[in-house]
Amino acid sequence: MSYIIKTIDAFEILDSRGDPTLQVRVELDSGDTGTASVPSGASTGRREAVEIRDKDPARYDGKGLLKAISIIRTFVQNRLKGMDVREQRVIDQHLINLDRTDNKSWLGGNVSVGVSMAVARAAAAALDCPLYAHLKQASTPRLPVPLINVINGGRHAENSLDFQEFMIVPHRAASFADALRFAAETFHALKATLRKYDHSTAVGDEGGFAPNLKSNEEACDLIVEAICLAGLRPGVDVALALDPAATSFWNEDRYVLERSDASILSSAELLEDYTNLVNAYPIVSIEDGFAEDDWDGFRAQTAALGDRIQVVGDDLYVTNPALIRRGLDERATNAALIKLNQIGTVSETIDAIELCRGAGWPYIISHRSGETEDSFISDFAVAMGASQIKAGSLSRSERLAKYNRLLSRAMENCPLGATRNCPLLG
Ligand code: PGA
Ligand code: ZN
Repeated sequence: MSYIIKTIDAFEILDSRGDPTLQVRVELDSGDTGTASVPSGASTGRREAVEIRDKDPARYDGKGLLKAISIIRTFVQNRLKGMDVREQRVIDQHLINLDRTDNKSWLGGNVSVGVSMAVARAAAAALDCPLYAHLKQASTPRLPVPLINVINGGRHAENSLDFQEFMIVPHRAASFADALRFAAETFHALKATLRKYDHSTAVGDEGGFAPNLKSNEEACDLIVEAICLAGLRPGVDVALALDPAATSFWNEDRYVLERSDASILSSAELLEDYTNLVNAYPIVSIEDGFAEDDWDGFRAQTAALGDRIQVVGDDLYVTNPALIRRGLDERATNAALIKLNQIGTVSETIDAIELCRGAGWPYIISHRSGETEDSFISDFAVAMGASQIKAGSLSRSERLAKYNRLLSRAMENCPLGATRNCPLLG
């Protein structure tokens, strides 16, 4: 059995928005292969690893990846050829050294994460074990509770909602399969509820509905009505979670909610709005409630609401261990979102998770709004013992691929995740 890299190749494929993205293929001397496809965000954080794209307007509106492919076939392949894929951390360090920038802007975060994930897949293939078992960190792998997006707004839909994501959380189900069933029944009930009020049931980038509603409260009301219509108990069987993605409506130190009620809010006023929402609805988690540069806003939110809800940093931390460390020191949040392509290698992502784990913070493994059928994050969530996964809605197969992987036989013996420190499950 050989674990030695023979070739590394890459191809342009299309993501769920029809934009090109990288698929990377690592082949070993043994003939085993590992393939991984790279996701892409729309509401990206300013400090995330940078995607490199051709910027040639003649192809894919400048989004082509021929340059990235050429980097993989030359620099990356030359550097990694002959290495043992079981040495993930050593290989990832070579990728970091090859790049030598703070934000992967030379090699490309998309190149780096694609190669890093394909290496992990090749190792799992050569070891003849599921990816989650190869990457396993926690002594007992476990299935995450899904945070399922049911209404899209912000940069993921062209509708009247400023908040990007309204999610449902089947947090008291006995198994992952039951959690997904609760969510599917609520999703269908929400479609019926939207129809009842003559709202559109068209979907946004992550597969949640994208109706033109008059307020965030109306979105929460409709979801609560749908949970009841599905025969479930709001806040008991199924709770709510929000990702306002507030950086996208932050302008010169103010939050400009121009799509809904045209209000312009200070950080303190926005916190008041969140407090009212948490008082009125069974909301258990708010992600990126404030903008990536508004650390004061996050700190105030954690001080005011941190004992009642999960306060999550996404754009705030961009899966960067240095930023998460600052968040821990300043008590900016009490949880972190984790996206492999924000930081650019599997090993650095694990470093970010270890910081969270050490602090008792829940960490949520997340997809991107631009996705492929690759379900790497499902195995990764189980391997990391994550209490939660966020992988979009229950429509669009690039989202379902993640949930279906978690339903698969390979994972049926893992218990559903729960952490003592996770307010979701308190
Ligand atoms: P993105 O959105 O992938 O467009 O950045 C997802 C999120 O904000 O969580
Ligand atoms: Zn987010």
